[in-house]
Amino acid sequence: MQGQPKSDEWGLFPDDRAADGPPAIAVRGVSFQWSSDRPVLKDCSLAVPPGEFWMLLGTNGSGKSTLMQLLAGLRQPATGEVLLRRPVGFVFQNPDRQLVMPTVGSDVAFGLAEENLSEIETRDRIRSALAELNVLELERRPIYALSGGQKQRVAIAGAIATRCEVLLLDEPTALLDPDSQLDLVRCVRQLVDDRGIAALWVTHRLDELDYCDGAFLLENGRVVASGKPAAMRDRLLASQSAL
Ligand SMILES: Nc1ncnc2c1ncn2[C@@H]1O[C@H](COP(=O)(O)OP(=O)(O)O)[C@@H](O)[C@H]1O
Ligand SMILES: [Mg+2]
Repeated sequence: MQGQPKSDEWGLFPDDRAADGPPAIAVRGVSFQWSSDRPVLKDCSLAVPPGEFWMLLGTNGSGKSTLMQLLAGLRQPATGEVLLRRPVGFVFQNPDRQLVMPTVGSDVAFGLAEENLSEIETRDRIRSALAELNVLELERRPIYALSGGQKQRVAIAGAIATRCEVLLLDEPTALLDPDSQLDLVRCVRQLVDDRGIAALWVTHRLDELDYCDGAFLLENGRVVASGKPAAMRDRLLASQSAL
């Protein structure tokens, strides 16, 4: 089941903090399996407050992408609930699977098609989203001429142009070099701060943790730990586990 969160009645906030309002992203008791042999998610729960940037960690195959697909509404959980503020923007690991139009401007416009905006409004939304991602000068460029980091910025601009309240990013830096990687994580940190949106970012790179408000660790199909980035890093390094 998908819908808007109504209240924080689940007591799921990280650090047991009192919440000001409902979470922007909430997963409660979700289970899911791709095939009959083995469940991927089992009674999995997490919550991200509005205006915060959280990361999702876990070993390869632990179900991070599966959970992101449930959050994006691409699959339905067998049991449990997924609730999100809308609109939701999704950024994939490989931008070549996401950017579908020939040029930067037309790709961002594509995501706005169903909003029936006027030509002027569409143009404003595209230009302000590209400017916010520092890629306005790329508006007329063909997608194939962009670097990986530029492509990811364009993908994020596409989500921002729809005025998304929630941004879901599944290993968006996996294909980037270390400089563009940190550049992208800083850029999302800034967007979360400037716009008050919530972001959930999947990664296996510990250096990215510095930029988030908190992180969840997914293990055996459920979130087994969550908290401040420094504590999560210590835990992972100490146990030599997960990543
Ligand atoms: N489309 C799919 N069809 C069948 N099994 C899948 C599919 N996607 C993922 N899986 C399986 O689900 C498990 C979790 O995968 P995934 O969510 O991609 O993990 P992660 O993103 O943490 O690496 C793995 O065992 C994987 O093989
Ligand atoms: Mg994955």
